[in-house]
Amino acid sequence: MASLPTLIFLLTTISTVFLLLLRKSRYRRLRLPPGSLGFPLIGETLQLISAYKSENPEPFIDRRVNRYGPIFTTHVFGEPTVFSADPVTNRFILQNEGRLFESSYPGSISNLLGKHSLLLMKGGLHKRMHSLTMSFTNSSIIKNHLLLDIDRLIRLNLDAWSDRVLLMEEAKKITFELTVKQLMSFDPDEWTESLRKEYVLVIEGFFTLPFPLFSTTYRRAIKARTKVAEALSEIVRKRRKESESKNDMLGALLASGDHFPNEEIVDFMLAMLVAGYETTSTIMTLAVKFLTETPQAMAQLKEEHDQIRARSDPEAALEWADYKSMAFTQCVVNETLRVANIISGVFRRAMTDIDIKGYTIPKGWKVFASFRAVHLNPEHFKDARTFNPWRWQNNSEAASPGNVYTPFGGGPRLCPGYELARVVLSIFLHRFVTRFSWVPAEEDKLVFFPTTRTQKRYPILVKRREESRQCIYEK
Ligand SMILES: *[C@@H]1O[C@H](CO)[C@@H](O)[C@H](O)[C@H]1NC(C)=O
Ligand SMILES: *[C@@H]1O[C@H](CO)[C@@H](O)[C@H](O)[C@H]1NC(C)=O
Ligand SMILES: *[C@@H]1O[C@H](CO)[C@@H](O)[C@H](O)[C@H]1NC(C)=O
Repeated sequence: MASLPTLIFLLTTISTVFLLLLRKSRYRRLRLPPGSLGFPLIGETLQLISAYKSENPEPFIDRRVNRYGPIFTTHVFGEPTVFSADPVTNRFILQNEGRLFESSYPGSISNLLGKHSLLLMKGGLHKRMHSLTMSFTNSSIIKNHLLLDIDRLIRLNLDAWSDRVLLMEEAKKITFELTVKQLMSFDPDEWTESLRKEYVLVIEGFFTLPFPLFSTTYRRAIKARTKVAEALSEIVRKRRKESESKNDMLGALLASGDHFPNEEIVDFMLAMLVAGYETTSTIMTLAVKFLTETPQAMAQLKEEHDQIRARSDPEAALEWADYKSMAFTQCVVNETLRVANIISGVFRRAMTDIDIKGYTIPKGWKVFASFRAVHLNPEHFKDARTFNPWRWQNNSEAASPGNVYTPFGGGPRLCPGYELARVVLSIFLHRFVTRFSWVPAEEDKLVFFPTTRTQKRYPILVKRREESRQCIYEK
């Protein structure tokens, strides 16, 4: 018996085929970027997924770039899509947000995130919300308000570590607590931990692409989303009644002249939690993985942080000047972002027929601007597929000539957390390497689908450095 989701899927499929046939004649006249649409309906989706489920997805793109050039047509996740591995085209796409291109996400994502999340907002409202978010994550705010909490919450978490640690899980706990603090001034407790448990379920829903409607995980995620939204609404309602305003993002949203309704505020907060949670924690984990696999970089990083630590009481809070003196760490941060590409690119939809590089992208088509393909292209980065933090030393223009490095996207949708992510990662590395020595507990593999992550959440064995030092002295 056909269930409702199956039926919807079939209907969508049939109408898509019909539409494709109808439009085919129009496309003959346009000059589409070369490429292959693969099999009917599924297109090249399965090839894409199997490439990204491996440690080395590059051949999927390399093969097509070699054959068709850096802009090619493919068919993924149910739609014909123009794939750009070209930095100039990518910049053009990012800069023309809202004019020629608009962000475009599947309905399954908008059900989970909420239509009022920053990711899905458009036009003037997006602009206001984006600048409000920016004003809460810019460097002077981090320096004067957030740094203290970042450092404190990281130390609090590391204090509890011993023996075997699943780094990815621990990093997620840290980033969740940080975001909750930043959004609504709560310190970690049972409430935040139970909220996080629901969150994990919501996040899993994102990974049910390309067929969310068939998935029990997705349905569970939608339920969890309702629970999280209720918990957040409760907070918003309470805060509206309080007479004094708090200096956090929720405070700013409530005080804003825009008079955002509760539903919009809840969607916004929910999406902020998603954004801060997955990405920064993955970067934290992968930086440690790459450093572990590059002992020379590890040694240099340790030396930098031991020097900072030698200057001050190890239990004292880190200051902005300490962060600013982490020169090599910034190279490690940039290189980790370049190689790992947590956000490997962005999907957009053409709002009109767009001519670019002698081709036409038809109105309504999907476009994927791949940052990853640019960051890992030897034409733009020497030895592009090796982790080499030293390339950023002395001169970052030398490392990324022509500004082809866009780990946080760009244009009106530049990731508002770009500076915050750097600071969190740097402070984490400082506390981690000065406190612990570690070895991987098991072999673990990096994969890129459904998101960039390691298969086993990167288990490591940690040992306090004070203890190991004592052992040396006692000998
Ligand atoms: C950061 O945002 C605050 C408002 O929250 C603003 O007063 C300040 O000028 C901004 N600083 C920078 C460096 O943009
Ligand atoms: C950066 O400069 C230092 C000293 O000026 C030099 O030793 C080092 O090789 C340079 N690094 C790179 C990547 O050019
Ligand atoms: C890291 O990349 C950013 C661009 O995202 C650049 O502004 C910065 O100078 C780079 N840092 C280093 C140490 O090269």
